[in-house]
Amino acid sequence: MIASELDTETLLAQAAALVDGERDWVANAANISALIGTQIPGLNWSGVYVLQGDVLVLGPFYGKPACVRIALGSGVCGTAAQQGATIVVPDVHAFPGHIACDPASQSEIVVPLLAADSTHRTDSPNRRRRLIGVLDIDSPHPARFGAVERAFFESVADLLARSSDWPDRTQG
Ligand code: SME
Repeated sequence: MIASELDTETLLAQAAALVDGERDWVANAANISALIGTQIPGLNWSGVYVLQGDVLVLGPFYGKPACVRIALGSGVCGTAAQQGATIVVPDVHAFPGHIACDPASQSEIVVPLLAADSTHRTDSPNRRRRLIGVLDIDSPHPARFGAVERAFFESVADLLARSSDWPDRTQG
């Protein structure tokens, strides 16, 4: 089973080391995408889409060329972004509106990237968080993403969101 082989503690430490001392979002998103794509078995794409107005625009990634623009509410990425919640898709063919960038993809996980909103920063744990975009991971294996992977990718997305300075592209 691929999931049980995942040493998430070591991988999270590697991810933290990669972004340590660097706040450029392109550099950090590129390195995190490459870490995921090269160190986690059974994947065919990992990358970031960044919100620009009400459209997600392709950012740094590891894998084959992909769809450039995804409207909020479209596909797995646009749905996760709109809901502000992780979506795990065991079978992409069963997800209505799934956008097939690579026909090899069979399962997918999309985690929203949420940054602390600098205009609403407080000490409250419930402080408002701004939607930056999504972290998207694809696999050529059905049901590749279980609870271990979900927890890991949510931790990585949180690390990436908090460790980088993101452009304000809310106006499109
Ligand atoms: N499958 C995604 C599109 C992005 S690619 O997988 C890289 C979706 O349905 O939103």
